[in-house]
This record gives sequence, structure tokens and C-alpha cells, in this order.
Amino acid sequence: MFSRRKFIQASAIFATMPAKIVLAGKQLLGNKFQVPALYAGTRKGNNVYFDLQIQSGLSQILVNKKTPTLGINQNFLGVTLRASKGDKVHIRVKNTIDKTSTLHWHGMKLPAKSDGGPHQAIQPNKTWETQFEVIQEAATLWYHSHQLHETAQQVYQGLAGMFILDDDKASALNLPSEYGVDDVPVIIQDKDFQQNGALRYLGGMMDSMMGKKGGTVLVNGVIRPVLKAKKSLLRLRLLNGSNARTYFLAFNDNRVFYVIGSDGGLLEQTQKTNRLRLAPAERAEILVDVSDGKMPILQHKSGKEKSGMRGMGMMRSMMSGNDNDLNIMQIDGSNAQKSNREIPKKLVTHDSPSMEQVSRQRLMRLEIKMGMGMMSGGDVFSINGKSMNANRIDEVVKAGSVEVWRIENASMMAHPFHIHNVQFKIVGKSESAISTHELGFKDVVLVNPHERVDVIMKFPEFRDKNTPYMYHCHILEHEDRGMMGQFVVV
Ligand code: C2O
Ligand code: CU
Ligand code: CU
Repeated sequence: MFSRRKFIQASAIFATMPAKIVLAGKQLLGNKFQVPALYAGTRKGNNVYFDLQIQSGLSQILVNKKTPTLGINQNFLGVTLRASKGDKVHIRVKNTIDKTSTLHWHGMKLPAKSDGGPHQAIQPNKTWETQFEVIQEAATLWYHSHQLHETAQQVYQGLAGMFILDDDKASALNLPSEYGVDDVPVIIQDKDFQQNGALRYLGGMMDSMMGKKGGTVLVNGVIRPVLKAKKSLLRLRLLNGSNARTYFLAFNDNRVFYVIGSDGGLLEQTQKTNRLRLAPAERAEILVDVSDGKMPILQHKSGKEKSGMRGMGMMRSMMSGNDNDLNIMQIDGSNAQKSNREIPKKLVTHDSPSMEQVSRQRLMRLEIKMGMGMMSGGDVFSINGKSMNANRIDEVVKAGSVEVWRIENASMMAHPFHIHNVQFKIVGKSESAISTHELGFKDVVLVNPHERVDVIMKFPEFRDKNTPYMYHCHILEHEDRGMMGQFVVV
């Protein structure tokens, strides 16, 4: 007997095999949905202590094979961290793998020394201790390795997890909020596997230019799982934890869902839609109603949206490469209990910086140097003509000031641009419309080829003239090969 479940798992090792077994009204995908373990630390009043360990191990992702992986407090991926606004967070990270690594708190406003970027590297067998106060609103943040030139590889192997922040205003809303029950983390990543079960990373120049895209989608480390909904209204905290792939998300039955949050927290108003583009490192919180008892499949529909590519035929398909429709996960609503939660129209009020407050504008020009460097593995990606140099400060920003940064994409590929230590608002895009989740606070924005995107932000009052924060493309292979710069706040 060869069960459907085994068949689907086994087929996952063939990267090119499309996951398209469609039987109306039946369960299509077979693996059990896994909720990452929640780790709220040890609390003493407003002080919360987290003990973390970067570790390696073997994970059962495929049927009969074990996959060597990395994780935080577990073998693959990280436990979900959780803290509240006003908490003083104390974190210890022990590095037990044989490579130097870091943990960066992506989306967090915090002192540069606590950022966990390339300047806070942790040698093998060493422990890094840091603390900071949570000064921002409820949000779905995440954390991941930020080791210089090694980020792509380490995140691909599993060094990534979710970091949820709470606050009183968000908690007062009648939103689904029972972790793992009706408030569910969904970390989406695409991978390739070798015959022996090991993860297959770069396959050549194409992968390193375009960023690594895999043919198998994992949710929380599981291939195409089924989430058996216990409640009829679900809140999904979507995180695109992929190295390079942008997902064009929609349900197979095109059902509507409700976008309530972006990178930096809740939106001001709920946005109804039936599709969502999620670039690497972006988060979106959505509400999905499954009171109809059906079993919708969340999919990546590559053909239904423009790929973000400009230019003609061959170039276009070459650069979007490996972009089939993909099944991501299925929700089984057949046993869902009627939820007593609502879909609120109004969520929170944002304290957004205004154009009158802007004291400085900066240009960030994203470029790819075509030519020999592509072959040699050198730094071919740059910002304002410069590839990343850890010994060079590129920008000096005043603490507490409001700035507009214009991110100009001078290349033929889309780049998700990320800035540390801030949450910005998008004020304008030259080539595309601002979409639902882009109405909220953001720390990463996808900039299409030849597009200009203006973002406005207020820099928090953390001063440190010696320790820089990063800004970079969040296609991790681009970040690792030069598309990153450094700023200090003084
Ligand atoms: Cu998600 Cu500089 O990082
Ligand atoms: Cu970051
Ligand atoms: Cu890029």
C-alpha cells in the first residue's frame, strides 16, 4: 500500500514535480500542520529572560530520510518568542554550531549594540548577551542569522523564527488570539533537497544571481501541511522566510480574506482582498473565515500576477526562473467550531510622521554590476555604487529625526529593501500601486525593476556613533554579495 500521504511526501524530493492533485472537497495535502513551540521567556515583573541556543540537528522533513538542519532551541527553525510593549527583554544566545553566527531581531526598534547584525557575531561555543526595552506596538516580527556573507546559507538551513510583540490596544480588539489555535504562525519557505535528504543550496550562478528559489514549499518546516481549523475564524501570521522568492498568495477557491497587519503591526483599517504579494522578509496578518466548512488551499499563483519583471520575453523568463504555481498549505474547515471573534473594520490609530517633519532626504540606488564578477563570485551587488564594507559607515542619521529615503531600483530584478531599527510608511511608488499591507508600518518594501519607492520614517532615540545598523536587499544572496550598507544614529 502506498498511501496518498506517502506519495505526496515522497514526491517532494523532486523539486520540479508540481503539487497538483486536485480533488474537489477532499483533503489534498497530507502532512500535519506544525505550530512552532511558543517561548515567552521567564518573567520577573517587566523583565523577561530568554535563553536561546543556536544548534544543529537532524530533522524529519522527508519520509524516509533525515535532513541536517539548524535551529534555535530546536533542530529546525526557531521557537516563537513573545514579549509585550514595555517589557525589558534580556536575551542570551549560545552558539553551539561550528560556524560563527548571529541572531538579528528583524523589525525591532533597539540600540545598535543589541541589533544582532554582522557586528554582533557569536563565535562557536560563545554566548552573546544583550538587553533592550520593547518600545513599539504589537507586531509580528522575526529573528534570523545575519552573519556577514553567510546569512543566506544559515537562514536556508533553518536559523529563523518568529518574534511576536503584544500591547494593550491590540489585545483589547476582539481578534483571534489563542496561539496555535486561532492565532497561527505561518512561516513560508521554499527549499530543494538532495537525493540523500540534505538540503540542496546553490545550484550555480543562476541561484546566486537570482537568489535561491526552491521547488518545495515548507510551512513551519513541514512540506505542504493541512491545518485542521478548530475555530471558524483564523488569524494567520504570514512570514515570508524565504531567501529569494516573492509569493503571490491566493486561495484556490479565490475566497476573500482580511488583511489586518503588516511588518510593523496592525493596520488602521481592515483591508478585504483575495490576493496578497509577500516579498522575502515581509509579514502580513490576515483573517480567514472557514465557517463554510470547506478546505481551501493557500497557493502561490505565479502566473496570475506580473512577476515584477520588466523587459522582454527571454530575459523575463530567465530572471523570474523556477516559478511554477505552488501549493503552500491547506486549511481544513470541516470541524471548525463557530468563532465568537469578529472582523473589526477599525483597528488602531497610527502615529505616522508627516512630510513637514522631514529634515533630510536620501537616495538609495540599487544596482547589479553585470560582467565578470558574476562568474567569480565577487560582490556584484551595490547600493549607491558601493558594495558592503563592514569598516565603512555609509550614512549618519540624527536620532529622533524624520527622513525620506528614495529607493531607486536601477536593475532588472525586483529587490525587497529593508532598513533596521525603524518602521516606515510608503509615501509613493513610481511604477505600481500601494497594496493592502503596504498601507501599514513596514520595515521592508519590494521595489520593482526601474521603480522608485519613497518611504518616510522617524528614527528612534538610540545613539551610538560607533555601532552601525544595516540597510539591505532581503534577497539574502544579494545581501551576502554586497547589496547592503551601514548607518549610524547620533
Ligand atoms: Cu531581516 Cu538585516 O535583516
Ligand atoms: Cu532587520
Ligand atoms: Cu536584491
